[in-house]
Parts: sequence; structure tokens; C-alpha cells
Amino acid sequence: MRFADKVALVTGSSRGIGRAIALRFAREGARIVVNYRRNAEQAAAVVEEIARLGSTAIAVQADMSDSAAVRAMFQRVKEQYGYLDIFIANAAATAFRPLLRQGEHNITRTFDLTVKGFLVAVQEAVPLMAGRRGKIVTISGIDSLRVLSGHGLLGAAKAALENLTMYLAHELGPHGIAVNGINPGLIETDSSKIYAGGEEGYAQYVRDVLPQTPAGRIGRPEDVAAVAAFLCSDDADFIRGQTLLVDGGLLSSSIASRPHE
Ligand SMILES: NC(=O)c1ccc[n+]([C@@H]2O[C@H](COP(=O)([O-])OP(=O)(O)OC[C@H]3O[C@@H](n4cnc5c(N)ncnc54)[C@H](OP(=O)(O)O)[C@@H]3O)[C@@H](O)[C@H]2O)c1
Repeated sequence: MRFADKVALVTGSSRGIGRAIALRFAREGARIVVNYRRNAEQAAAVVEEIARLGSTAIAVQADMSDSAAVRAMFQRVKEQYGYLDIFIANAAATAFRPLLRQGEHNITRTFDLTVKGFLVAVQEAVPLMAGRRGKIVTISGIDSLRVLSGHGLLGAAKAALENLTMYLAHELGPHGIAVNGINPGLIETDSSKIYAGGEEGYAQYVRDVLPQTPAGRIGRPEDVAAVAAFLCSDDADFIRGQTLLVDGGLLSSSIASRPHE
């Protein structure tokens, strides 16, 4: 129960990695703010699951690319709990397509969500963390480090997010707030299946990726949740401004490698 008496807000926690993070923190005693954009039903299901785990949660709809909605969400947190201990910036959305075919609205939406909305959220979170040794964790992606076809826009936004993670660690250290990030490899969620072209494409994708993954399996949302919990625990107090690669070893493999006895 590392997070008993703590309040944690996880953006995009109606599904996928965000949901697993919300459940993990709830299991360890935290009260959770489940943020979502569209899926009210799935967000409500996460709130119910948290209640079954013995903690409490509220679901708050807010499009994280909309500054006014972000501010309204933090106002709700203030009214409900009066403070915040943990902020996990997980929500992401983009159009997977070549950069030359990205419309201006896609560029704006992707950066508004990953960069602008994140910074507005941090500006709102910091006063709520006063005197509470707050933790902020950003969720990046390997598209920030390597080229994934169709991921250019999100990769650029995630690279900016990793940079902000480093700067914020310095700016918020004096406020007693620790800032770090996680860069997940391939994790089985709705969005990784959409990227791979549906269930069939995903099965082939997994067959291609597995031999390059020393962990011998595809990542699970719970793998990311476990590292998020570690980064928000006292054990991680001396880690600052880092984005940890949680990819089962995938990124260290080289296409030039050939099997040998
Ligand atoms: N899956 C992977 O292999 C992988 C790999 C590397 C990095 N990541 C990163 O991990 C994070 C989670 O990915 P995922 O695969 O779990 O995604 P996902 O299954 O597509 O879920 C996305 C979540 O974000 C929410 N969301 C989307 N746009 C939003 C907005 N504008 N405002 C608020 N919430 C919004 C969705 O809410 P609704 O349910 O309401 O739509 C949903 O809860 C993302 O940052 C992603 O880039 C994922």
C-alpha cells in the first residue's frame, strides 16, 4: 500500500496503459481520477473496478488538448480532494500517416494534446501538489527514438514530451516534485492493434517483433503500470528527469544481426 492517502490523476485511463496504471495505483491504496475523452462507459467500468479493489475513484471527462477542459478538470480535483499527489500524462492520439499527408488540424491536435495540454496540466497540478512531494510521470513512445512508419508526428511530439520531462525535473525539483517518464515498447492495446492494421495485421506484427525481443513476449499494460508505480515510490527518489525505456529489450536489436551457433 505504497500510495495510501494519495490522490492520483491518470489521463486517458478509460482503456489500455492508462487503465492499467489507474488500477495499479488503486491496488496500492491511491484514490484515482480517471480521465477520458469519449468512452464514458469504459471510464465508469474502471471506476467500478477500483471500488471492487477497495479504493475510490471519480471519472472526469476532459479533452486534454483543450486548455479550458484541462483547467476545469483540475478545478474538479481541487473541489473533490483539495490536493493531488501523482499526475500521470498518458493520453495520446494522432493520425498514423506520412508527414507529407498530415493535415494542419492533425498537427495542431497531436501537439495540443501531447505538448500544450500536458504543460497546462502541469501548471494546474503544481499548486495542488504543494507540500506533498508530488510525482509527475510522462508516457512517451519508441517513435521518439526510432522511425516507425506513419508515426512521424507523434514521434516528434513525444520527443518534445521527453525534453519537457527533463526540464520540468529541474524546474519542479525545488517544489519537491519529482518528474520522470516511461518510454514503452510494443504494448498490447487498442492503439497498437489499430496501428498494425487490425487483429490479423497485429498477429503478424507480433510474429515479426518477438524474435527481436529478449523478454520473449509482447508488453502488457501492467508492465508499464509497474514501472509507473516504482517511479512514484520513495525507492525512485534519486531518479529525476529520466525517461525509462520499458520495451523488453526490443530497441537494442539490430536488423543487421544474423543467427550464429
Ligand atoms: N500501445 C503501445 O504499444 C504504446 C507504445 C508506446 C507508447 N504508448 C503510449 O502509451 C499511452 C497509452 O497508449 P494506449 O496504447 O494505452 O492507448 P489507447 O488504448 O488508444 O488509449 C488511449 C487513451 O487515451 C484517451 N485519450 C485519447 N485522446 C484523448 C484526449 N484528447 N484527451 C483525453 N484522453 C484522451 C482515450 O480515452 P477514450 O477511451 O475516451 O477515447 C484512452 O483512455 C500513449 O501515450 C501512447 O502513445 C503506447
